[in-house]
Amino acid sequence: MEPAKMDWPNLDFGYRKTDANLRFTWKDGAWSEGVMTQEETIPLHMASSCLHYGQECFEGLKAFSTRDGDVALFRIEENAARMIESCKRILMPPVPKEMFINAVMRVVQANRHYVPPYGTGASLYVRPLVIGIGPRIGVRPADEYLFIVFVTPVGPYFKTGFKPVHLVVEESMDRAAPLGVGNAKVGGNYAAGMRASMGAKERGFTEVLYLDAKHKKFIDESGPANFFAITKDGQYITPKSESILPSITNKSLITLADQMGLRPERRQIAVDEIFDFAEAGCCGTAAVITPVGSITWRDRKATYGDGETPGEYSTKLYKQLRAIQLGEAPDTHNWLTIVPDAGNEPTTTGGVFSTKTVSC
Ligand code: PLP
Ligand code: COI
Repeated sequence: MEPAKMDWPNLDFGYRKTDANLRFTWKDGAWSEGVMTQEETIPLHMASSCLHYGQECFEGLKAFSTRDGDVALFRIEENAARMIESCKRILMPPVPKEMFINAVMRVVQANRHYVPPYGTGASLYVRPLVIGIGPRIGVRPADEYLFIVFVTPVGPYFKTGFKPVHLVVEESMDRAAPLGVGNAKVGGNYAAGMRASMGAKERGFTEVLYLDAKHKKFIDESGPANFFAITKDGQYITPKSESILPSITNKSLITLADQMGLRPERRQIAVDEIFDFAEAGCCGTAAVITPVGSITWRDRKATYGDGETPGEYSTKLYKQLRAIQLGEAPDTHNWLTIVPDAGNEPTTTGGVFSTKTVSC
């Protein structure tokens, strides 16, 4: 299939309309069949619990065109498992793993020509979400839910791509409470972080680095990504915390770091250790690995290398991760799931969203 006409190498991390998204509703204890639609908006009751009480969670994963011409999803089972945990945490009906995986496959197949071609540096970002819908004004879980999967072709999250970003330690605002929902991928965490993030940008930083809310001593994570560092004696360290998102990228980097002899360790990292790191980085699906050039804490600044050049180990990890995602290096951990070309699967029709169904 011919790729869509787009300026692939220069895509930013933004929303672009594609051909189809897939929607399921949950009512009376069961998920409906999926309905494929072109519609970009959703009919939503104004008293929906997602709007008032934040009953919402989402996922983020990527599909890549590989060197061999396949389309591959990276670690989709992990995203499916994490979404189950997020749903449970805010009392929403979990999306079964198989249903999640099939739904993502179908949406990627339906938007095959929006998967950025191999070698362009871009990828197809997949955004599954679950929201509580239906009228409800008391604070309790909704009776009905909507699970949607949509996709959009994207470039790097930080517009500089694989270039160092500059973080500032945020001490006046917390992203998440110790026993809160910081380890679930729920929308409220992101709303809670927007003021700090925008404030940091206004002050000339790229993003915020949060500390643990209880002691204000240990590094948690950045707004949109986990945090890691390489110590001067060549160790990969990353924060151990109950209030950060369990990043699938970070989990993958720990495996790769181990293979590279970087003795990976998850541990509490005191903020004053920033002055001892050789390298630092942010990692996540959207952020991939984004090297950190400097971290400002109060009136002091820790700079890594010249602050503008990615460090040796961050570069090695980045290259190895990308090589696996693009099918250039052997997928020895079975992290890739190849999306078959769309066969003759029937497209479900019917239901509230069926007005503009498309075949896929
Ligand atoms: N931390 C936060 C707050 C995130 O939003 C993300 C992105 O998903 C991550 C970390 C990285 O997680 P992952 O590598 O699974 O994308
Ligand atoms: C992702 O990396 O997939 C995320 O969801 C982070 C988000 C801030 C874009």
